[in-house]
Amino acid sequence: MKLRTIDNIDVRGKYVLLRDDFNVQIVDGKITDSFRIEQSMPTINALRNAGARVAIVAHLGRPKGSRNMEYSLAPIAKYMNVPLIDDPLDKAFLSGMKDGDVVLLENVRFYAGEEENDSAFAQKLADGFDLFVNDAFAVSHRAHASTVGVTKFLPSYAGKLLASEIEELSAVMEKPSRPLVAIVAGSKVSTKIGVLKSLIRLADKLVIGGALGTTFNYATGAHVGNSLYEPDQKDTALEILNYAKENNCEVLIPLDKGVATEFARDAKRTDKTFDEITDNDIILDAGALTTARDVDAVRSAATVIWNGTVGMAEWTPTWSAGSFAIARAIAEQTRSGKLKSIVGGGDTVAALEACGVKDDISYVSTGGGAFLEFIEGRDLPGISVLAE
Ligand code: 3PG
Repeated sequence: MKLRTIDNIDVRGKYVLLRDDFNVQIVDGKITDSFRIEQSMPTINALRNAGARVAIVAHLGRPKGSRNMEYSLAPIAKYMNVPLIDDPLDKAFLSGMKDGDVVLLENVRFYAGEEENDSAFAQKLADGFDLFVNDAFAVSHRAHASTVGVTKFLPSYAGKLLASEIEELSAVMEKPSRPLVAIVAGSKVSTKIGVLKSLIRLADKLVIGGALGTTFNYATGAHVGNSLYEPDQKDTALEILNYAKENNCEVLIPLDKGVATEFARDAKRTDKTFDEITDNDIILDAGALTTARDVDAVRSAATVIWNGTVGMAEWTPTWSAGSFAIARAIAEQTRSGKLKSIVGGGDTVAALEACGVKDDISYVSTGGGAFLEFIEGRDLPGISVLAE
């Protein structure tokens, strides 16, 4: 898909409404992961340096149309050192802006019209601007007023981040170097059916881990104890395994697991095969055998696509072992030039960061849900409106 980009447009003196995804983790008023903000800076700086007057529209969390200050963008405005405009619909601030100025508009999800993609709300949001730039790949799977609605009222373009996400992800979907190994984990089969099927059609090998993997183990008759899994997805899991056979994709489901008898970060870990797992056991990580096999799969690959950690990676080294081993293997292979690696999803990117290998990955997407929907081959409404 060819997008209208900001590369050849003259923005000097123009009022630009820029959509960014600043839906980042904030703990006690402090941003704990600034990745999405940093990735948004090239477009912000390009517009600023070209003399545009930029108002950034963004959301944080899900305040559901009400002004809940827990979700204020104030910490982000502070981090970026730009003024925060309290009421994005009162355009008085525009007259005070000079060429190269940047402001941040308060959380657009404080208004019900945003998620409803209400046309009157979109028009009010667009009012006073000359053009719209969407650089928020991570929220472009949502047909909201600030991703889709405003494009009816303003000439609209893709920012640099959005364009590079589409370019990088399309390249791996269309012309991947083979063998291609996809690693998918997370908690729910029900939310990943589409992406699993798409990856089965694309990949030579599909590694399924995490609680998702546990459901596949359960479906194939394994005893999974007191763990998180979806018993009602048994038939779906079997259908997916069958689909993989029909499409000549080898599926690797967990062989063993790191378990404990309580759901606690300081719980004692034991590695058990499914024959050894008892009713009291709770699965909290991939087991050592599974991890060694998955690391081998990474080493055999020319392309890896990874989404989802295979255990409680955010806890302690005891429970991040499986996810970090995969992260390190991907990083090592990529560094040595043998692998093209694509990673997406908040938890997965956090795991890369936590084990210090994020910069070694060929491409780290800012998308979570949007990354999955793109890989699934779905039309992202915020992107199709920017097609040439
Ligand atoms: C994300 O964090 O993945 C995006 O900002 C979308 O957020 P949402 O799932 O709340 O729409």
